[in-house]
Amino acid sequence: MTVVAHLSDPHFGSESPAVAAALVDDLFGRAAPAPSLVIVSGDLTQRAKVHQFRAARAFLDRLPAPYLVVPGNHDIPLYDVWSRFLHPLDRYRANITEDLLPHVVADGLVVVGVNTAHGFTFKDGKVTVEQARAAAEVFAAHPDRFKILVAHHPFVLPAGRPARERVDGAEHALPILHDAGVEVICSGHLHAAHASDTGGFRDARREILAVHAGTCISTRTRGEPNGYNRLVLDGDRFTVHHRVWDGDRFTESSHKAYRRERGRWLHDPDVVAA
Ligand SMILES: [Fe+2]
Ligand SMILES: [Fe+2]
Repeated sequence: MTVVAHLSDPHFGSESPAVAAALVDDLFGRAAPAPSLVIVSGDLTQRAKVHQFRAARAFLDRLPAPYLVVPGNHDIPLYDVWSRFLHPLDRYRANITEDLLPHVVADGLVVVGVNTAHGFTFKDGKVTVEQARAAAEVFAAHPDRFKILVAHHPFVLPAGRPARERVDGAEHALPILHDAGVEVICSGHLHAAHASDTGGFRDARREILAVHAGTCISTRTRGEPNGYNRLVLDGDRFTVHHRVWDGDRFTESSHKAYRRERGRWLHDPDVVAA
């Protein structure tokens, strides 16, 4: 069994210290077993300030597990126009990582992150065919592993969300990622947690599950409490556990379980959560 924690949108600069402390406590103490990997799907900072990146860096350094992180639109300076257009991710690269196509191979998984935050877009993200191909190349080196893609902006939206919230270029990137064997895409940005009822992107052979995490520790919540996802892979079962802050600690709020049958993911309410 493999456990991955999926966090998003901490927005250091608008974080709640109490929630942040409880999150670390939950990740590596209360919610057993501890994850073997932590995914952070962007918007590490509130306004891309150096001190906010340093706080994010300190948070990452406290995680006693490997992590994979991608930037979000808030990690690009908004008002400093010079930086925004010429060096949009300089502070992210200096404080978090130079790697804008990070990948981690662990515990039967290969996880690849792509950067969808660019200086020339205000809030919405963009993914290019070249980025999708580069990610596919990494996945191709690990044919027998469970494949997860991480991006800040969503490639597949929950039902009812306006189409403009989908990352630009998703329609061209998804078939490439699909052919590369991607099973799950983890994203954030919406500040709303969700997991597909069925495969969010499909063709005759296969489906991709879309998993969204809300904001893990920011006070900028949008109608739902802080939370994060625990992804549990166990053979042909995949379960997304949603853990939320109840004002005192993180507790399990809900879960969705899936079963893989002949390459397709079925939402399976009858599967007992792992
Ligand atoms: Fe955000
Ligand atoms: Fe965002």
